[in-house]
Amino acid sequence: MKLGLMGSGFAWVCGVSAALFGSYQTAWAGCEEGQSAFEESTYDLMTSPGMCSSCHAGFGPGPSFAVEDVEESYLRVSAYVDFSDIPSSYFVERAGNGHCNCDMDEARMTASLQEWFDNGENQCPTEEGYVTKAVGLGLDLPGRDEGFQLFTWNLGDLQPDLQDVIVGVEVQQYIAPTPNAPGVYKINSPRIVSGDQTVRIAGIKVFLNGTFDAAADNFSSIDAVVSPQDATPLPNPNFPKPPYPLFSAASSLFTQQDAMGDALSLKFDTLSLAEEEACQALDEFQTKVLPVVEGRNCTFCHGGENQPGIHPANYRFFMDLDDEELCRAFRQRSRVTDGVESVVFAYASGAFQAHPRIFTDTELQEVKEQWSEWISAEFQ
Ligand code: HEC
Ligand code: HEC
Repeated sequence: MKLGLMGSGFAWVCGVSAALFGSYQTAWAGCEEGQSAFEESTYDLMTSPGMCSSCHAGFGPGPSFAVEDVEESYLRVSAYVDFSDIPSSYFVERAGNGHCNCDMDEARMTASLQEWFDNGENQCPTEEGYVTKAVGLGLDLPGRDEGFQLFTWNLGDLQPDLQDVIVGVEVQQYIAPTPNAPGVYKINSPRIVSGDQTVRIAGIKVFLNGTFDAAADNFSSIDAVVSPQDATPLPNPNFPKPPYPLFSAASSLFTQQDAMGDALSLKFDTLSLAEEEACQALDEFQTKVLPVVEGRNCTFCHGGENQPGIHPANYRFFMDLDDEELCRAFRQRSRVTDGVESVVFAYASGAFQAHPRIFTDTELQEVKEQWSEWISAEFQ
């Protein structure tokens, strides 16, 4: 049986709609049997005198995962555990690194997690999908005017076909916390930051402390096949290999849950090696999209038409390509479901604030009509 809504015993009462237990973080979907087993094994161990709860019970200095509310602790610790490979879980690593200064080592924590699994967690339903390890966001994220911090995961850990394909999101402390109110994180720019393979990724979900907040979800509609981009052919040793095309121009805002630091993980519905996709509607691209790209001089910043471009535009999206390749580059940044809201157009329309606004509202209407004709043809 599934459990109810999440409680609110963290340092702040969650401002966002409570996360549903059903959309659970680990590949093991969580259940009452799992929680009872947790309570008698790992929870009991963590909260015995002199152990983890002296620093992880909600009052700091460490993140709050050994709190009075068992369900919250269960959710939170689950995010740190990989039940398909318990000994290499982040929780085992951190428990065993000596920072507790208590009677704890990797073997003891591994045994307690195994007991939790064997006595209940293994009865919980499994969910489809691939879930990354949780990483701590820490308490030093850049503020609203200070840029973003990149957090990355190696997809090879989840899907053996994708060795050394690194995915990342950028995070910022958009609103700082106060003693009375939690802060807000802004999470942007999901993309593969490095790798050599063509990848299909669909349904990206962002989890905070093992919970998914549907109200903050902007990335689950992503369904893309992306290939590595060629390096900018400028002599620039500082930027050897550009990232893959961006998946989304959207930002997600998440209310901070734990004054002592939250943990972030991602889940993917689909993650696989894919065949490179070619441009499908070159004619439409040449007649509906290209004239705008040339007319509005996208290449001034992004390179092409004998212009070198300007960093970082020519690094993230180098446009000095032949028509067919440029069409393919636009295709990789488009989604038929997103239509003209797709990344490639959202940036130029001014929807993404860091990008110069290229069109007036009136122009935009016309341009969008043209572009949506290409998208329909391209993804027919
Ligand atoms: C003396 C205080 C103290 C005790 C006791 C303690 N911790 Fe910690 N722990 C911290 C602090 C402070 C941090 C945050 C700084 C850091 O990440 O190193 C932390 C971080 C962690 C993290 C990383 C959380 C994240 O989101 O990245 C884990 C996991 C962890 N501790 C596990 C444990 C476990 C398991 C125990 C008990 C065996 C334990 N700690 C006992 C102080 C403590
Ligand atoms: C005045 C310079 C400038 C012009 C003109 C310009 N861009 Fe950009 N563009 C940038 C910069 C800078 C970035 C990188 C922003 C970032 O990632 O923070 C960027 C990034 C992008 C991205 C994100 C690509 C990725 O995968 O990361 C897209 C898509 C894009 N631009 C489309 C366009 C289109 C289409 C045009 C023309 C209609 C255009 N841009 C014109 C400066 C420009």
